[in-house]
Amino acid sequence: MNENQKDNLLLAIKEEVIKCQECQLYKTRTLPVIGQGNHNAQVMFIGEAPGAKEDKTGVPFCGEAGQILNLLLSSIDVKREDVYIANILKDRPPANREPAPEEVKACAPYLLRQIAIIEPQIIATLGNYSTHFILEYFGVPESHLGISQLRGKKFAVQDPLTKKHYTIIPLYHPAVAIYNRHRLDELKNDFKIVKEQLN
Ligand code: URA
Repeated sequence: MNENQKDNLLLAIKEEVIKCQECQLYKTRTLPVIGQGNHNAQVMFIGEAPGAKEDKTGVPFCGEAGQILNLLLSSIDVKREDVYIANILKDRPPANREPAPEEVKACAPYLLRQIAIIEPQIIATLGNYSTHFILEYFGVPESHLGISQLRGKKFAVQDPLTKKHYTIIPLYHPAVAIYNRHRLDELKNDFKIVKEQLN
């Protein structure tokens, strides 16, 4: 797929999400957070759902967790504009509660389409929630394990629908490092695995 086609397909998703009323979250959100970054990214980071700041700006990972993500990217010499960042849910759940199953069912198809269009080499899942969703979707038997057992591991998968191949690398959610230096060190080490896989 050439760049123009990718841009058009991603723009079509954006327009659909803006109008989407498949779940109730459109009623309480300010802006949808569709995704940001390079349409030819080799690595795609996937979080859970927008927080308060993301909801106001429409930009993924622009709050406190986003500052940590930026720091982790620069620790491996990767520019934020070279990766693509998206979430499972495009709209903020009120009071940052966990996504409800019907919200994920309604929203995740947008993310799966984004993945198929961008076709990154690596899908780096941020935190338990997105890791579980992505591993389960791709039929990885370890999908039931917790993030502390999965982080830093690599899973070679094939999309059952598009037949495209990806390497999934689960990572802790950057928010865990806001008040925990030890987790930040672990995250830095795990980001090196992403970097190695890129090289
Ligand atoms: N946490 C997430 O999972 N995603 C964001 O975009 C921001 C915070």
